[in-house]
Amino acid sequence: MDPAQTADRPRPRPANHVVVLFGATGDLARRKLLPGLFHLAKAGLLPQRYRIVGSAPAAEALSDEQFRAHARQAVAEFGRSRPEGPAWQEFEAALSFGAADPDAPEPLVTAVHEAEQAVGGTARRLFHLAVPPVAFTSVVALLGASGLAQDARVIVEKPFGTDLASARALNEAVHAVFDESRVFRIDHFLGKEAVDNILALRFANGLFEPLWNRDHISHVQIDVPEKIDIQGRAHFFEGTGTFRDMVVTHLFQLLGFVAMEPPVALEAQALRDEQVKVFRSMRPLDPAHVVRGQYTGYRAEPGVAADSDTETFVALRVDIDNWRWAGVPFHLRSGKALAEGRHVVTLGLREPVLRMFPLDAREAADGRANELVIDFADPGSITARFLAKEPGPSMQLAEADMVFGYRSSFTTDNALEAYEHLILQAMLGDQSLFTRSDGIERLWEVSSPLLDAPPPVAPYAPGSWGPEGIASLVAPYRWHLPERRRAEPR
Ligand code: BG6
Repeated sequence: MDPAQTADRPRPRPANHVVVLFGATGDLARRKLLPGLFHLAKAGLLPQRYRIVGSAPAAEALSDEQFRAHARQAVAEFGRSRPEGPAWQEFEAALSFGAADPDAPEPLVTAVHEAEQAVGGTARRLFHLAVPPVAFTSVVALLGASGLAQDARVIVEKPFGTDLASARALNEAVHAVFDESRVFRIDHFLGKEAVDNILALRFANGLFEPLWNRDHISHVQIDVPEKIDIQGRAHFFEGTGTFRDMVVTHLFQLLGFVAMEPPVALEAQALRDEQVKVFRSMRPLDPAHVVRGQYTGYRAEPGVAADSDTETFVALRVDIDNWRWAGVPFHLRSGKALAEGRHVVTLGLREPVLRMFPLDAREAADGRANELVIDFADPGSITARFLAKEPGPSMQLAEADMVFGYRSSFTTDNALEAYEHLILQAMLGDQSLFTRSDGIERLWEVSSPLLDAPPPVAPYAPGSWGPEGIASLVAPYRWHLPERRRAEPR
């Protein structure tokens, strides 16, 4: 497509807003939220009139000036565009700060009211809780008790609970103040362009959806290896582990989109109904189909217990007991300190009923020639891998690829990063890409057998693909990653 064709698409613009960032001095605000909000402002996607109020406990309070300097520094370090020029001046002028503690919300209440006056008319309130999970409940209670929650929306960060009981308690605490239509549980994976594109691929094309079921697909993999280790986050990671950090949130959410039935419409309720139906069809996890791993050297990281049983790697099989997927294994894998950092969904297609072509020995042994590979790195690609005849006198087949790459097909100038996309959706009040309370509770419910009886962690070498045992987990199939080199032309 001609890149220019995408340049003047209609841009959704939210109603006027006051956005409050709890945890404004924290890491997430610095790396993602402040740079993301500035990018939205620059792209003309923030409301016509808006104010952003930073908040933190009084012990970490900043003046308005200090908060602006903090934001400038964050944008300079992590933003896509420099904090300068008229766009920055306008953004900076919209920033202020109001401290808040459970027993002393007054500075925040005053800052919000001032911001609303500056916006003029009616402004929607959006609270973003970029705070550690232990603080969720007290911040929500503060919003309720101070009256700030009235008609407001709230974005809650992951992880949403650590098991079924804690997720239920958290939902109760949130629902005591905000009804579900105003709650946006964020999972930044769902903000990635390629996730929306799974919907487009499946439901806008006659080419793929007819194949998207057990008759044609033999297995599915959702593979998110990370090259990074825990990067000094021992305090967070020791109590969390890869299953809670990556699988219950990000990978299961992706699974919901890959496996869902066609929704009756592309709108929040219909999409989330279908996603939750997938979660309800998931069989409770069987610890016998889970490999937990820990990279060698993890126990020597500062802050990690010498006998830590926390997993830095997990691979597992999920079964979905519904008419579309019965008998098709979904294998999920994620871990730290692995060989590559990737985000890949692979659908393996069944072989035709008769093998009438000679394959070279490797293809025959491998049996993974037909695959649909969705790589959702930003900006991402989709590859259909199939067998083609190699030019020459004999009927010799070799693997070939049909590749769609975002970057080579469209301009990516208008692409939003995951957080930018999701903050914009929350301001627009669209919950399509946010987790619903019954969905998250069901995910913890199916996770209970594993949480109750986790298999022991097996060691793996940093830079590898995980512990021994991951190959037999997916047998008779093979992990799509690491990608094998395509055969050199003979
Ligand atoms: C976060 C996890 O939610 O996602 C991190 O807490 C992980 O441990 C990160 O590294 C991965 O996100 P992305 O978008 O970089 O793949």
